[in-house]
Amino acid sequence: MKQIVVSGIRSTGNLHLGNYYGALRNFIQMQNEYECYFFIADYHSLTTHPDPAMLHPNVKSILAEYLAAGLDPEKSAIYIQSDVPEVCELYTLLNMHAYVGELERTVSFKDKIRKQPENVNAGLLTYPVLMAADILQHKANLVPVGKDQLQHLEMTRKYARRFNTIYNTELFPEPDAYKFHGEPIKIPGLDGSGKMGKSEGNCIYLNDEDKVLTKKVMRAVTDQGPTEMNQTKPEVIENLFTLMRVVSAPDVVEHFNNLYNNCEIRYGDMKKQLAADILTVTAPIRERYNEIVKDEDYLRKVAAMGAEKARESSARTLEEVRKAMGFRRF
Ligand code: TYM
Repeated sequence: MKQIVVSGIRSTGNLHLGNYYGALRNFIQMQNEYECYFFIADYHSLTTHPDPAMLHPNVKSILAEYLAAGLDPEKSAIYIQSDVPEVCELYTLLNMHAYVGELERTVSFKDKIRKQPENVNAGLLTYPVLMAADILQHKANLVPVGKDQLQHLEMTRKYARRFNTIYNTELFPEPDAYKFHGEPIKIPGLDGSGKMGKSEGNCIYLNDEDKVLTKKVMRAVTDQGPTEMNQTKPEVIENLFTLMRVVSAPDVVEHFNNLYNNCEIRYGDMKKQLAADILTVTAPIRERYNEIVKDEDYLRKVAAMGAEKARESSARTLEEVRKAMGFRRF
């Protein structure tokens, strides 16, 4: 039987390189081999109380970016999370076996309460349960995500296992992280702050114009340069190389690595090369995006097709879940 793949991206604005290399690029490769469900997590975006006027435009731009990057609606179910309200029922049911203690210990929750102490809502606390419902509603086997989502995925596995044990069933498979090139990836920010992320404000967006993108890369934090042959790279320099390993050809990476090891590197040259190689990936996506985003009819059609496929799959699972938990119709 075909393995099932589920993944999503929150609708909090345009997609950045972390989203692309951590998730979207893998979606595109997986769609040819697996039964795939790729969605836009608009419910999840509500945990930070976005402006209602921006909710739909954000969903729309991500849908257009999915398609521009090469997701094919004939191959995968591409849908909007809130178009499949079945997920809310599964979320409610899974919440009965999700314990507050374990939710409070989640790294992303602890992080968020530090960042938004004025808005520690219950949706934030149970974020991983909704994510588990997203995944388990389709009985997924594989979930392509970046490194930052691994703990959430571990919780999904725990909820699946717990449900199966409590109700003496094998209803839910335990989904694995999809490891594309070895380990799940973390795209660093170029400001020396670790991860590239929207709340870090250090993103290179797929939609950035050439000039804007090049300027961001040229501004990447570096140091004075190596002083000893073959010395260990400090984190900010390792970050540049990490990004280069992802976007550039291996011989290009090796070239700059050799220059570094011989203390001959000029960071300006490396950054110019890096910016050019990023643009090779992003510029064609941006061009297609600009066309697709204007085509409301096409976007509507894609979303409707995806929702239909996803609802069917979700409803099937829910029927089994309700039965296992003891619900009966009169
Ligand atoms: P989100 O919207 O924060 O990120 C979407 C995807 O992009 C990856 N990502 C990164 N990967 C590598 N390096 C980075 N700097 C980087 N930044 C983001 C994330 O790992 C993720 O794969 N909770 C999820 C959305 C979600 C989901 C799901 C995912 C909701 N339900 C079910 C999978 C399955 C999230 O907030 O991702």
